Amino acid sequence: MTIQIPTNEPVPAGLPDELSLAQLAGEFFAALPGNPLEELRNRATPPRAAEPAIVLGSGSPTLAPVAPPGEAPVGAGVPRSSAAQPGLPEGYAAALPGVPAPSAPSASSPFYFLDHGYPAGAGLVVPDQIAVQPFGFPGDAALRSLLAEIDHRPPASAAPSGPGGHFYFLDPLTERRQTTAAPQAASSATIDVNRVRRDFPILQERVNGKPLIWLDNAATTHKPQSVIDRISYFYAHENSNIHRAAHELAARATDAYEAARQKVTKFLGAASPDEIIFVRGATEAINLVAKSWGVANIGAGDEIIVSNLEHHANIVPWQQLAAEKGARIRVIPVDDSGQILLDEYRKLLNSRTRLVAVTQVSNALGTITPIHEIVALAHSVGAKVLVDGAQAVSHLRVNVQAMDADFYVFSGHKVFAPTGIGVVYGKKAILDQMPPWQGGGNMIADVTFERTLYHGAPARFEAGTGNIADAVGLGAAIDYIEQLGLENIAAYEHALLDYAMHGLGAIPGLRLIGTAQHKTSVASFVLQGYRTEEVGDALNREGIAVRSGHHCAQPILRRFGVEATVRPSLAFYNTCEEVDRLVSVVRGLARR
Ligand code: ALA
Repeated sequence: MTIQIPTNEPVPAGLPDELSLAQLAGEFFAALPGNPLEELRNRATPPRAAEPAIVLGSGSPTLAPVAPPGEAPVGAGVPRSSAAQPGLPEGYAAALPGVPAPSAPSASSPFYFLDHGYPAGAGLVVPDQIAVQPFGFPGDAALRSLLAEIDHRPPASAAPSGPGGHFYFLDPLTERRQTTAAPQAASSATIDVNRVRRDFPILQERVNGKPLIWLDNAATTHKPQSVIDRISYFYAHENSNIHRAAHELAARATDAYEAARQKVTKFLGAASPDEIIFVRGATEAINLVAKSWGVANIGAGDEIIVSNLEHHANIVPWQQLAAEKGARIRVIPVDDSGQILLDEYRKLLNSRTRLVAVTQVSNALGTITPIHEIVALAHSVGAKVLVDGAQAVSHLRVNVQAMDADFYVFSGHKVFAPTGIGVVYGKKAILDQMPPWQGGGNMIADVTFERTLYHGAPARFEAGTGNIADAVGLGAAIDYIEQLGLENIAAYEHALLDYAMHGLGAIPGLRLIGTAQHKTSVASFVLQGYRTEEVGDALNREGIAVRSGHHCAQPILRRFGVEATVRPSLAFYNTCEEVDRLVSVVRGLARR
């Protein structure tokens, strides 16, 4: 094969030809510290319009342009347009066509068992039109009482997610609290649930003629209007491939995508955006680490520790790796409440331990694991730690540096962002030593037929065109929950879970699975005389969505002698009234 040198001029003797120069340039850029691609882009791209940020107003959060650091606020001195629609930067809102009202649900649909296909031509639901149920049912008083009690507990530690964070210690079920105390004002540091619910259009759905009660948040969360609007806005005004062209839309899209990476960096407490890799979700994130770091660092006779609580996604990739390399999987057992036994974990650690891969919150039981101790103990024998944060990031303040995790992974869709986007956090020094796991465009500095020079992290791990719009949507979701405040979310959800655990725990024949003192969001149970899908079906008839089944976590359910549970799982938009309805339907089944 011959390669044509694209020049008409003969190369003077003694000087490198153009091809050699291109190769040298590639090697030079690849050897530069930092991300040369990003550097080049910054130099080639004119200053960008500011990234819209979310502003919480009286209704739905709205997007408003924010000035880059050191510049006057965008729109300063410009009167607000009365035509502005929620979620749209004001300058564009007036120019947009009116939002058509959604058509009525079809009478019947062959596709959706909930009898409601997506209506053709439907537009956005305007949040202000949503009628919210009054927050004044019997459970309201109980929740207010619980929240007031939290107020009188010691102040939150700087890291409420760590062991000792007081929000998640549930009262022992045997010492049931009096919930009939006179209602007190809910703490101003918690959630105004009525207002928050207006931000989520899907919460106005009806299922089987009943208002939807979404208690399947561990499977996926719903999206606030601001996230829906941000994605729409991306496709209407910014859509382009990224990192590849000098034109305006490429710059807008690249800026929006990299702004999302910055938001994730701050959200996780990472040291640099170079430590944040976008992937499809937590499952792909763990597979990336297994296929890249794992293949390079795990050998025959090495040991990988997981816990009994793990989701299949944090078991199977390590099993595959162990089978390929001749390594061994070891499992940390849990106690009868579903909490990790730290003493047993200590016994598993040794000089052959290369990796500890553990969840921060169990998807099946809701247990919050003592992740700081787990990481410190792993490091004491020189092992690396991967933390599965899929069920944690929507409930707890996470700081990967305080935790000292080597890898931390999560999925966007569990944190009010779209499906198909997720994150690997990795310490930069570790990422820089890891080989790519997929090859293609975007991750290379220079390619010849003889060899390829790769970019550093994160581009090295983002081959091909990624999920640009949904990364931007993830940034908007982070804006949303940061406005509410993770600490406020934690306090509210703690009270709600306490209320649900007590309500369900009092039903005759109901067995709660997962009663760790330190837990969040999930109230798994089985009901004597019923299969779990029968309970799920009965709840669905009342408009209540829960997951029933094995939750992709069969080992932990078998630890408790069951193959499946009914799993209500909460988010900050759930109410005591909804929990009351759940308890009432299950109680009705128990009576039969
Ligand atoms: N991992 C998700 C769950 O726990 C799907 O339901």
